[in-house]
Amino acid sequence: MGQFERAIAVLLDMKNPGQDLADGLRRGQMGFYEKYILPKLTDILCRAKPLMMQRQKIVPLAQGRVLEIGIGSGLNLPFYDKAKVTHVWGLDPSKESLAMAQIQARRVGFDVEFIRRSGEEIPLDDRSADTVLVTYTLCTIPDVARALENVGRVLKPGGELIFCEHGAAPDKAVRRWQNRINPIWKKLAGGCHLNRPIPSLIEQNGFAIKRLETMYIPGWKPACFNYWGTAVHR
Ligand SMILES: C[S@@+](CC[C@H](N)C(=O)[O-])C[C@H]1O[C@@H](n2cnc3c(N)ncnc32)[C@H](O)[C@@H]1O
Repeated sequence: MGQFERAIAVLLDMKNPGQDLADGLRRGQMGFYEKYILPKLTDILCRAKPLMMQRQKIVPLAQGRVLEIGIGSGLNLPFYDKAKVTHVWGLDPSKESLAMAQIQARRVGFDVEFIRRSGEEIPLDDRSADTVLVTYTLCTIPDVARALENVGRVLKPGGELIFCEHGAAPDKAVRRWQNRINPIWKKLAGGCHLNRPIPSLIEQNGFAIKRLETMYIPGWKPACFNYWGTAVHR
C-alpha cells in the first residue's frame, strides 16, 4: 500500500468516521484534526522510503547524550548507533506523537527520556548535550530563532547540531510553487513551511555549518528539496 492509501486508511480506521469527524468539527475543526489525524498522517508520510534513507545517512552520526528536537513518532530511533549513544532526550509538543515514539523506544537498546515541550523552551541545563538532532522539524517550529538559540545553549562546546530538513528549492519554478502553496500547506501540515532557507536559518542563529549536502529526494518536488549536514555553535 502506498503512503497516500495508508493516510486514507487512517481516516477509515476510525470506528465511526462520520460521527468522529462531526464531533471533532463541533469541538473545533483544527484542534480535532491536529490532535487526532495529523500525528498519524505525519507518521505515515515520514515513513516514506526516501526519508528513511536520509535518516540512515545522518542519525548514526549522533553520539553521547543526544537531544532530539521534534522527535515525532520516533522514526529516527532505530537508526541511532547503540555503541555511540548513551542517552536520548526526545522532545516534542505533541502528546499523540510521543505516545507513538514510546512504542518505538521499547525496541532500542539505550535510554530514551521523553519531554513534552517545544523547541523554543528546552528544559535542559546549559551544556548538557553532546549532540542535537533535528529532522524535518525546523520547517515547522514557529520561532526557529529561539529554538536554535536554545540548541546553542544546551550543546556542550564543540557539540554538533545534526540536521536533515526539506526547504527552499534552488530552482526558481519550484520555489515559485513553494511560495504559492505555502499558506494552505501550513494549515494542512501542522505549521510546516515548504520554503524555509534552512542553511541560512542555521547560520544566522549562531551556528557554523561544517558539512552540507543537498538534493531532491524522490517525490513531490516542492516538499522534497533536502538539506542535511552538521553544524557547531560559534
Ligand atoms: C514532520 S514531523 C517530523 C517528526 C520527526 N522529526 C521525523 O523526522 O519523523 C514535525 C514534528 O515537529 C513537531 N513540532 C511542532 N512544533 C514544534 C516545536 N515548536 N518544537 C519542537 N517540535 C515541534 C511536531 O509535533 C512533529 O512531531
